Amino acid sequence: MSSPENPDLALKEFTFEENKGTLHSLTVSIPEVLDPQYGMYVWPCAVVLAQYVWTQQEKIQHKTVLELGAGVSLPGVVAARCGAAVILSDSAELPRCLDNCRRSCEANGLRGVSVVGLTWGEVSPDLIALPLLHVILGSDVFYEPEDFENVLVTVSFLLRKNPEAQFWTTYQERSGDWSIEALLHKWRLSCRFVPLDAFGAQGSQIARSALPGSHTIQMMVITARETEQLRK
Ligand SMILES: C[S@@+](CC[C@H](N)C(=O)[O-])C[C@H]1O[C@@H](n2cnc3c(N)ncnc32)[C@H](O)[C@@H]1O
Repeated sequence: MSSPENPDLALKEFTFEENKGTLHSLTVSIPEVLDPQYGMYVWPCAVVLAQYVWTQQEKIQHKTVLELGAGVSLPGVVAARCGAAVILSDSAELPRCLDNCRRSCEANGLRGVSVVGLTWGEVSPDLIALPLLHVILGSDVFYEPEDFENVLVTVSFLLRKNPEAQFWTTYQERSGDWSIEALLHKWRLSCRFVPLDAFGAQGSQIARSALPGSHTIQMMVITARETEQLRK
């Protein structure tokens, strides 16, 4: 559906069905920009991560959640609608992507969500000034191998500052040659894979959207390695 105020925008709706922990369904609207740039529309990984957030809503209620590389911010918007205090971020050098974060909040009546420019790999004053975090979200942030390490530098910085926090991320397999395993080891991070069927994301259609299709997507929970050892 295109937006009457701006013909360059199209509103896409996602409906998350009621599940064990919830008594109702949730519909969110995400304005997509008719532009082929990254960060302008919802990626298949975002629907999978948003479904995970939806099924974990009891864990994030009244907690602080940061989304990295949010673009049009479907997972962050779902987190905010589930009662989390959400901070959305995208590259500080991509103001149009930051506008998309704000537009998605407006489309869903979310007023308390802050939007900050955070460029992966940069320890900026805005990164240092972030409040205590409980969950960090990243949907399809591992899409360009040259950025993989910068994403993990930022994640590692945040997880060491917030030792109880977890990084929830979805990864789309685009090449068998790509892997973050060595970088996870280098940055002393632990990774647990969550099977998609454990949270109702195994089908080609999620949240009444056909976007996931036949893409191979993985859901990972990443923590600081020392924290993981302490938990055992
Ligand atoms: C493949 S898109 C995914 C967008 C969104 N998370 C989703 O899944 O729909 C990658 C996102 O990372 C952002 N990005 C790219 N380079 C970045 C950087 N160096 N620092 C922070 N964000 C970046 C892009 O602007 C874009 O929003």
